[in-house]
Amino acid sequence: MADIKLHGEVFYPSKKVVQYANIKDWDELDKKAKEDYPGFWESIAAELDWFGKWDKVIDESQKPFYKWFTNAKVNIVYNCLDRHVKTSRRNKLALIWEGENGEFKAYSYYALHRDTCKFANILKSMGVKKGDRVTIYMGRVPEIVMAMLACARIGAIHSVVYGGFSVEALHERLEDSHSKVLIVADGAYQRGKIVKLKDIADEALERAASVEHVLVVKRTGQDVKMEVGRDMWYHELMNMPIANRSCEMEEMDSEDPLFILYTSGTTGKPKAILHTHGGYMVGVYATLKYVFDIHDEDRYWCAADPGWITGHSYIVYGPLLNGATSFLYEGAPTHPYPNRWWQMIERYGINILYTAPTAIRGLMRFGDAWVTRHDLSSLRLLGSVGEPINPEAWKWYYTVVGKENCPIMDTWWQTETGMFMITPMPCVPLKPGSGTKPFPGIVMDVVNEEGESVKPNEEGYLVIKTPWPAMIRTIYKDDKRYEEQYWGKYAGMYLTGDSAKKDEDGYFWVIGRVDDVIKVSGYRLGTAEIESALVSHSAVAEAAAIGLPHEVKGNAIHTYVILKSGFVKSHELAEELRRHVGHEVGPIAKPESIEFVDSLPKTRSGKIMRRVLKAKALGQDPGNLSTLEN
Ligand code: PRX
Repeated sequence: MADIKLHGEVFYPSKKVVQYANIKDWDELDKKAKEDYPGFWESIAAELDWFGKWDKVIDESQKPFYKWFTNAKVNIVYNCLDRHVKTSRRNKLALIWEGENGEFKAYSYYALHRDTCKFANILKSMGVKKGDRVTIYMGRVPEIVMAMLACARIGAIHSVVYGGFSVEALHERLEDSHSKVLIVADGAYQRGKIVKLKDIADEALERAASVEHVLVVKRTGQDVKMEVGRDMWYHELMNMPIANRSCEMEEMDSEDPLFILYTSGTTGKPKAILHTHGGYMVGVYATLKYVFDIHDEDRYWCAADPGWITGHSYIVYGPLLNGATSFLYEGAPTHPYPNRWWQMIERYGINILYTAPTAIRGLMRFGDAWVTRHDLSSLRLLGSVGEPINPEAWKWYYTVVGKENCPIMDTWWQTETGMFMITPMPCVPLKPGSGTKPFPGIVMDVVNEEGESVKPNEEGYLVIKTPWPAMIRTIYKDDKRYEEQYWGKYAGMYLTGDSAKKDEDGYFWVIGRVDDVIKVSGYRLGTAEIESALVSHSAVAEAAAIGLPHEVKGNAIHTYVILKSGFVKSHELAEELRRHVGHEVGPIAKPESIEFVDSLPKTRSGKIMRRVLKAKALGQDPGNLSTLEN
């Protein structure tokens, strides 16, 4: 690919980058993968350890319920920890952590393995068994990594709820997953303040019945309420004999669930995306290895939150599967000053930085000097995820942060895909704003309403035409919704919910969501979640939420509210409603604006036409209004 003349503005990789890279010829790899797709994945799977071999690499007999590595026996944690502990990687650092308040911790593979085993034994003592659900609600601290691994080690299904979510979001997820245990931190540091996670959890627990035990990790140390018989301190149990050093590994079937992760969908409640031990492990391992070109001496930093899929795949599982050293930072990028990130890159000699466009735009605002006063020469690769990156931010990242030496891996993927799907590798020529092409072997396309491929540079629906190992297996407890939502529109094609274009070089340009999902600062929120939080306030009769472009956040939430009779619109009430949404869903969901209205545009069947609101707000033509009732 490196020698071909491509259309538009292209950044070709330097010879130095290609020479160093694990994969030097993308086309060759793609050809190999397409010639024998199962064989391609099988040879990658063989790099990992299994307790028993598979019968088949891909089983398509019950489409769209695809199975990978059927009947193989495995545990992802064995490959994340135990495998390395048996080698010279035993004393290599697995995790380096810096707290927002400047605290520092580091864990070797040996130490991470030790604490994970102890943690797993604590969970066992609480009665957690294979298949049970455990909810984890914490900030970015090392214990969140161990909590996830401890669950997986004993075959429990973890459900991590992002620490930025609040009462109702947590309650809903606890209830839907029917979790037996909740692992929570007392608090988290964010922008110099303490987010009182345990207090939020207590309120959520009042509304949720299934939780028998709450394990509390001390981070911030303020007073918290401990309910006798239900709540226990993690640090106390870790010092008791039950936290035994050795914990047997649960032998899992390749298709056994590893975790569920809630994400926002087109309608109604968030849905629990289910991932498994075998296929997910292979997909995440391979994509990180090839795309971020992991070398044993690297220090890799994915600046996402473990509570989102990016953190699951590329903070926790991917780096550990690759035996990498990964860095985790607790707090805000600008605390106490806008050079915090750059300072840490210099301090720890980070080689790879993977973040989101919103963070780049946010840091760009403070000017170059905050960056250039630091020595960032350790950086070799940069990455972007979560939303389209605008060329201006791309170029700033490339020039000011990467000093034109570091290719940017713009990775398109989803909670549902589990792994990178459209992504470059260091040897691939880049076009700012495009994630380039699908990962080798994977076939994706842009299609029209009828499911036919559109012409180059025409907009259409982004679809995936081949199964992939880390793919969503189902929506937990809702096979029907899984089938309808992802596979219902076109036979044999997975619908991503995004619109995109493909250019004359076969490069994909993702435009954005075409459903009722809003990406705010790269976080995925559903209009339904925001609307139901608004309607849960006693003053609100009806509400509608839309996303409008925002310079830093990508999109911001704007809402329209119809008040119940007897309530009068005021600035104070609008503020109260914003706070209410923040309290119920989380600070990221707080609407940018609240407009009080007397009616909302609806179809005759009563569905709110958000596209009409959006067009009006943007001063655009609302298009076809034939289904509009009022
Ligand atoms: O719209 C796409 C956008 O994020 C959506 C998936 O969100 P989520 O499940 O929260 O996962 C985010 C992290 C993987 C996609 O449907 N998206 C993600 N990455 C990109 C992107 N849009 C454009 N470019 C990307 N690199």
